[in-house]
Amino acid sequence: MLSEAQRAETLARFAAHRAAWDRNPALRACYEDWYGAIRRELPPPEHGRQVELGSGPGFARNFIPALELTDLVRAPWHDAEVSGEALPWGDGEVGALVLFDVLHHLPSPRRFFAEATRVLRTGGRVVLCEPFISPLSYPVYRFFHEEPVVMKVDPLAVEMSSDKNPFDANQAIPTRLFGRDRAAFETAFPRLRIRALRQLAGPSYVLSGGFNRPPVLPFSLWQKLHAFEEHWPAGVFRWLGFRMLTVLEKL
Ligand SMILES: C[S@@+](CC[C@H](N)C(=O)[O-])C[C@H]1O[C@@H](n2cnc3c(N)ncnc32)[C@H](O)[C@@H]1O
Repeated sequence: MLSEAQRAETLARFAAHRAAWDRNPALRACYEDWYGAIRRELPPPEHGRQVELGSGPGFARNFIPALELTDLVRAPWHDAEVSGEALPWGDGEVGALVLFDVLHHLPSPRRFFAEATRVLRTGGRVVLCEPFISPLSYPVYRFFHEEPVVMKVDPLAVEMSSDKNPFDANQAIPTRLFGRDRAAFETAFPRLRIRALRQLAGPSYVLSGGFNRPPVLPFSLWQKLHAFEEHWPAGVFRWLGFRMLTVLEKL
């Protein structure tokens, strides 16, 4: 169980991220793109409830208003307090689970995927937007981001303490899980078919400054770079990408 101090620290992080978001138009433009990509992957609402896990500062509300927002630590804008490893819904009740920068924070991704398999109805989806470790992003995430990147990990064997700080993480987990360990994932979760896997987000993301640094470029110049990246062929993002969109569909 989380302590009161951990909860207070987590809520303070949400508030800091909301403040950074309010003052950084480049960051908001990045999230608009990424949540747009997520929205396009959601099944029709008739498939069942659509829930975001680990909503944190709650940016999803701006882009997918119908999504139910939840987190391990509930803030006023969340609809419920939910652990990604013990989902409170019945078998087959859920149409979509959205995780934005959350999988690599979970104490056990394996427990989450077992729960996702249980609660999703057939045709339901898990849509994940997570860090991608590419040749360009590796040094940036490794040396300029507070969360560790430990490539030597078995993502299906990860077992962090369940009362760890909710922001503790290993940014390498998604890249390992759907890259080198993809076959192990498919064997462990045969009912979660990988429907799509795309690398995205070029250097303009880093130059936005993210949540902890001021923007590197004036916004008008940043917009030009961002628009230029939109014309890059998809394969370029395997080398220069910072994010990965993964869509799983329950068979
Ligand atoms: C990096 S933040 C991402 C927040 C938000 N999705 C965003 O992209 O702005 C990670 C979030 O995962 C949440 N989290 C960590 N462990 C969790 C768990 N076991 N179950 C649900 N949420 C969790 C944290 O509280 C935090 O809000």
